[in-house]
Amino acid sequence: MLKVEEQQPVQFSSALVEKFEEIVKRYPEGKQKSALLPILHEVQAELGWLSPNAMDKVAEYLRIEPIEVYEVASFYSMYFLKPQGKYVLEVCRTGPCCLVGAEKLMGHIEKSLGVKENEVTPDGLFSWRGVECLAACGYGPVLQIGPEYTFYENLDEKKVDDLIQDLRKK
Ligand code: FES
Repeated sequence: MLKVEEQQPVQFSSALVEKFEEIVKRYPEGKQKSALLPILHEVQAELGWLSPNAMDKVAEYLRIEPIEVYEVASFYSMYFLKPQGKYVLEVCRTGPCCLVGAEKLMGHIEKSLGVKENEVTPDGLFSWRGVECLAACGYGPVLQIGPEYTFYENLDEKKVDDLIQDLRKK
């Protein structure tokens, strides 16, 4: 994955542009805007997050206004608008999970990793954030880890610490 800073100009790889072309072909002529979501996923997979310059390039490629890209990217929480760690711990912070300790767990993760929500650890390995319901409400607290989105349920502080240790060893 490339490391892209906030103001860094973005050049998409030829492999990525080939993927764009494949995706756009799925939609009828003149409806290339429909390819926006899958294209943003591909950009994020290559760059790690969606910088303003990357979103502008996507707008240029799809021949749409940059605001149309920003509004989609900022609506869906699976798109990262800031650089993230290699592993993103996303903790469900919706009511049922909070009732069984999600907030306490987020506090513990913050302490264990030494970074606040949406910050990246100095080694670039981790970031964490609270997200809305992950659809496993009976098994909280729950978290998922991007970019593969592996699920972990019935968590407690010890299980989260073990999980972080395992990821460090990878
Ligand atoms: Fe946490 Fe639904 S409330 S998974």
